[in-house]
Amino acid sequence: MLKTLVITGASRGIGHALAKLASEAGHSVYALSRNIETLERTATLFPISIDLTDEKAIVEFADQLKEEGVVIDALINNAGALINKPFSETSAKDFESVYRVNVFGLASLTRILIPFIELKGHVVNISSMGGLQGSSKFPGLAAYSSSKAAVNILTELLAEEYKNTGPAFNGLALGAVQTEMLEAAFPGFKAPVTAQQMAKYILQFALQGQQFYNGKILPVSSSTP
Ligand SMILES: NC(=O)c1ccc[n+]([C@@H]2O[C@H](COP(=O)([O-])OP(=O)(O)OC[C@H]3O[C@@H](n4cnc5c(N)ncnc54)[C@H](OP(=O)(O)O)[C@@H]3O)[C@@H](O)[C@H]2O)c1
Repeated sequence: MLKTLVITGASRGIGHALAKLASEAGHSVYALSRNIETLERTATLFPISIDLTDEKAIVEFADQLKEEGVVIDALINNAGALINKPFSETSAKDFESVYRVNVFGLASLTRILIPFIELKGHVVNISSMGGLQGSSKFPGLAAYSSSKAAVNILTELLAEEYKNTGPAFNGLALGAVQTEMLEAAFPGFKAPVTAQQMAKYILQFALQGQQFYNGKILPVSSSTP
């Protein structure tokens, strides 16, 4: 059955592959990122330029959905920001810039869109192996990985808060995927998984995973990093 998805971080990397894959399969996709030149509007792909740190812009997007009578089946919070810097050199601003996208932006978008999400629908938060307690950790990623840890707990909390009504909330803690972000985090490292391969897995999970999971953070990784 064809569904309606909102996918963030759609201008490049995993989100771009995901938006293309889903829309080419016939699903309606609202593809959100600041830059949208890489996304060609089609009958099923609707690029929306949004900075997730701008709550006013998110509200305007929600108004558009309301006007169009849109019901969302899956929200995939995939957008992410990363800073790779020794902790001693990071400023409060660095931490803030990462958290504003990965945590506060994700929380704002989710809160504002929940009224539009089908009760049997699914919110999938894209997290990272580095945000899991007890996983391998890497220097330089203090702001990034700690923000993903916050995303994981937020996911569990929302699943609890909405467990009697829906939608379902799950997190996917990704391992290395070949994208610009991976290159920034681990320069020169070759990931065993492409953005397209990961997109295929995430799409299937977003459309079906809520039948089997709620409030889970699932590691999706076959390598370290
Ligand atoms: N690649 C990996 O190995 C890996 C591993 C673990 C987890 N992840 C997670 O997977 C997700 C996708 O990562 P990726 O590797 O595809 O990253 P990427 O290539 O760096 O893409 C990040 C996306 O996030 C968007 N974004 C960043 N700041 C934004 C903002 N303020 N407002 C709206 N959109 C914003 C970017 O679009 P604009 O710049 O156009 O706004 C871009 O589309 C992220 O959450 C990342 O943490 C990736």
